[in-house]
Amino acid sequence: MRASTDPRAATADRYREFADMEARGLSACYEAWAHGVADDPATVALIDRLPAPKRQPNLVFSAARFHGAPVSEYGEFGSWLAGHWAVVSATCLSHSTQTNEPGRCAVLLPALAALPGPLALIEVGASAGLCLYPDRYSYRYLAGDEVERMLHPAAGPSPVVLDCSLTGPVPGPAELPEVVWRAGVDLNLLDLFDQADVAWLDALIWPEHDDRRARLRAAVQLARAEPAPIVRGDLNDQVEALVARAPAGATVVVFHTAVLAYLDEAAARRFTATMHRLPVRWLSNEGRSVVPAVTERLRARPAASTDFVLALDAEPIAFTEPHGRALHWLDERGSSPRR
Ligand SMILES: C[S@@+](CC[C@H](N)C(=O)[O-])C[C@H]1O[C@@H](n2cnc3c(N)ncnc32)[C@H](O)[C@@H]1O
Repeated sequence: MRASTDPRAATADRYREFADMEARGLSACYEAWAHGVADDPATVALIDRLPAPKRQPNLVFSAARFHGAPVSEYGEFGSWLAGHWAVVSATCLSHSTQTNEPGRCAVLLPALAALPGPLALIEVGASAGLCLYPDRYSYRYLAGDEVERMLHPAAGPSPVVLDCSLTGPVPGPAELPEVVWRAGVDLNLLDLFDQADVAWLDALIWPEHDDRRARLRAAVQLARAEPAPIVRGDLNDQVEALVARAPAGATVVVFHTAVLAYLDEAAARRFTATMHRLPVRWLSNEGRSVVPAVTERLRARPAASTDFVLALDAEPIAFTEPHGRALHWLDERGSSPRR
């Protein structure tokens, strides 16, 4: 477990690691804030009033932005946080980090399109369910600066366009898969019809990522037009019943992205055993050491420490950028061809 998410780690270490390992290169603002917190004992003392699992940088910064903290240098942020600690800490206690990133569909799509259709999709850890619409988004796959492939839903171009850089021998989906049924489960599902929930999803997006913010708004509109049933509960307790509800004749795909890191090892192993037992295809997109059955089969290392591993039925097939911006397909031996 990373120090940034490990509740046993000292708060200053959690923030320093978050700055260096997670924010660097992705958010100059969060990198500066996290370094600033790590070096500021007064702010660390404030954050230490929260229960340890709630001291995560991503949660505290998102709660601050939810309450209007401006993008700024650390000095200004530190003062702002001290002045707004009551509301920020209440939001940290009542909310959790559950970023819902439809962009992740861009890295799931080639694997989904290669399966025999039609598909019945079940997302475990669905948050608000925005990754349940891979057939409703448009995709712009890039090779370097060139558009290598553009894909649209059967009904025509989508208001949500997902950009993704491709490397490696990616199987080329010629069209989007047919999805005949979709459903999800989440411990703490967010309601797309609730403005406060949507505002929280917005606050979870890092400051400089305006493209993701615009995409969130468009994806929320799209999903509201076709709401997928999402049940509240633990994925281990609910997944089997959801699989039983899937229509006959469809390939049932159980998938998850950025979820299993929240489970302890016993729960992750229980879920893995369920996936091997049920008549489903299992598509996993998680950090490289999160799913033991996938990690054991890895024969290459992702280029970046933050990269996820995409695995079908526990077999690694690609490395992916955590928000779906890039996909590096592995060769048939699971090795990583030159980029
Ligand atoms: C970081 S979010 C990812 C959401 C979505 N999969 C995506 O990629 O956009 C992780 C989600 O997993 C959910 N989650 C964590 N542990 C869970 C569990 N044991 N059962 C069900 N959902 C869980 C959280 O509530 C949260 O909504």
